[in-house]
Amino acid sequence: MDSLTTDPVAAVLGRLYQEAARADRPLMESFRNRQVALEELLKAEAKDYRALYRTYADNFLNVSADFGRFLYMCARARKAKRIVEFGTSFGISTIHLACALRDGGGGHLIGSELEPTKARRAQANLNDAGLADLVEIRIGDALETLKDSIDGDVDLLFLDGAFSLYLPVLKLLEPHLSNGAVVIGDNALQQSGGYLDYVRNPGNGYLSLPLPFAAGRGNEFTIVTR
Ligand SMILES: C[S@@+](CC[C@H](N)C(=O)[O-])C[C@H]1O[C@@H](n2cnc3c(N)ncnc32)[C@H](O)[C@@H]1O
Repeated sequence: MDSLTTDPVAAVLGRLYQEAARADRPLMESFRNRQVALEELLKAEAKDYRALYRTYADNFLNVSADFGRFLYMCARARKAKRIVEFGTSFGISTIHLACALRDGGGGHLIGSELEPTKARRAQANLNDAGLADLVEIRIGDALETLKDSIDGDVDLLFLDGAFSLYLPVLKLLEPHLSNGAVVIGDNALQQSGGYLDYVRNPGNGYLSLPLPFAAGRGNEFTIVTR
């Protein structure tokens, strides 16, 4: 048995997916013309990503249940002991990853979230799921909060915050990535500040390819080959 598909985790995820669908429906409808929405988002991020994400303080912007299950499976397969997440929001992806740590015998997950209210809700959701002992959520800009105190090799890095910061956050954590570490970039877009060019260049010590989840959304799977 795995604890992802049994209670309390399954019940908490079920509730959160319902809350997320309600909270994000109007935003997702406004994003229906994806190309325009994306261009506007990237422009707004380039101008002031902190201000942009403040406007999404009530939105989950979460991974799908399939993608969450994929995150869990990656962490289990990698036998991850230390995981870092850029962009925790209300904790849906965090719960999947922490659950993999629990079922793999323990470990530590460092999450990061700009919005204090979201981080507090994520913390409460992790408590409800019985996973809080495995997770530390750092509140503030990940470029600052993930600078120090990583305290060991990182086996899995999940990038799901401001798109334009994927490359700077990867570079920040690069010295800590274990050989064979998995790096997953959610919506890693060609326009996102050179991230894809960097991880797809084997000279930089990575092997990388796009994932077919929600095709065209730019989900990128990368492993460290150094
Ligand atoms: C797409 S959502 C994350 C969804 C979450 N991973 C999940 O699946 O439930 C992106 C989150 O990243 C946060 N964020 C954006 N830029 C950030 C930064 N520089 N540092 C920390 N968090 C950031 C936003 O506030 C937002 O909550």
